[in-house]
Amino acid sequence: MTREQAIKKIEQSFDINPIFARKVYELLGANFSVEKAEKIIKSKAKPFVKWVGGKRQLLSQFRKMNLYPPEKFDAMKNSYFEPFVGGGAVFFDLLPNKAFLSDLNNDLVITYNVIKSDVNALIKSLNKHIYDKEYFLKIRAKDVNKLSDVEIASRFIYLNRTGFNGMYRVNSKGQFNVPFGKYTNPIICDEDNLRKVSEALKNVEIKHQDYKAILKKAKKGDFIYFDPPYYPVSKTASFTSYTADSFLDKEQLELRNTFAELSKRGCFVMLSNSDVPFINKIYSGIKGVRINKVQAGRAINSKSTGRGKVTEVLVTNY
Ligand SMILES: C[S@@+](CC[C@H](N)C(=O)[O-])C[C@H]1O[C@@H](n2cnc3c(N)ncnc32)[C@H](O)[C@@H]1O
Repeated sequence: MTREQAIKKIEQSFDINPIFARKVYELLGANFSVEKAEKIIKSKAKPFVKWVGGKRQLLSQFRKMNLYPPEKFDAMKNSYFEPFVGGGAVFFDLLPNKAFLSDLNNDLVITYNVIKSDVNALIKSLNKHIYDKEYFLKIRAKDVNKLSDVEIASRFIYLNRTGFNGMYRVNSKGQFNVPFGKYTNPIICDEDNLRKVSEALKNVEIKHQDYKAILKKAKKGDFIYFDPPYYPVSKTASFTSYTADSFLDKEQLELRNTFAELSKRGCFVMLSNSDVPFINKIYSGIKGVRINKVQAGRAINSKSTGRGKVTEVLVTNY
């Protein structure tokens, strides 16, 4: 069996993406066995926060549609960019060698960097937290400006694990205001996974910056995945987006222009958004672009009767 055949076999047997399949093959080399491969795959790092809009459950659908990862993207040579990283579902799925991540949520970015460079201190701090409403409110009320980076990361993960639905929401003063969530024994410190994430982030750059900053870095052959705040599907949905960092028509158009520029440069570009006329319209005019429809099992409003399958778009330039 040639090297390429072996990689294909790992990809198919374990239903994983070809970039990670190659990594598994390279880690094992001549020692390859199905059992060893399975062990590596099962012990892979996974997202350390629950994040609204997380893409984890959609990835196998993207793969089956031959949209992800781009067939011609060479992860050994080129870089992966995820400028709206959030929980990083796609980054953790691919685990590419060269990656650049960013987000405008400063506490989230600090958390990534603390996991990367100070995971022991973080684990120590997380182990001190308790799951209790009064305690939660005390931690929530803390002023992040007075905390160290480790304390910010520890608070961030604690609130994400114990707050309602893993939601992230701040008031007009920028204070986190998600209520206490009802769980039985939430795992606040997943030490094993945090150590794996730390390892996975070793050569990764994670910055607090606007997505447009990647225009300075991305080169021909690089792969960029944009998962921006979605365009609202209805007027009532848009109401909740009227915050300091709303992402409406003007911002979506700027993002479309960035997409087009990167596409012209020869990058592989993939973007998620809601399947609404405005989004379909602004992406239909770019050369070589395909607007693919995917099914998402996402809640479309907070009432249980409104839950159901909705379509999203996955825009690609390949
Ligand atoms: C839909 S979420 C991404 C979800 C992510 N793909 C996941 O799997 O968890 C959008 C993210 O974009 C960030 N964001 C909003 N505006 C931004 C901007 N102008 N530049 C970079 N990030 C931004 C938000 O903080 C949020 O984390």
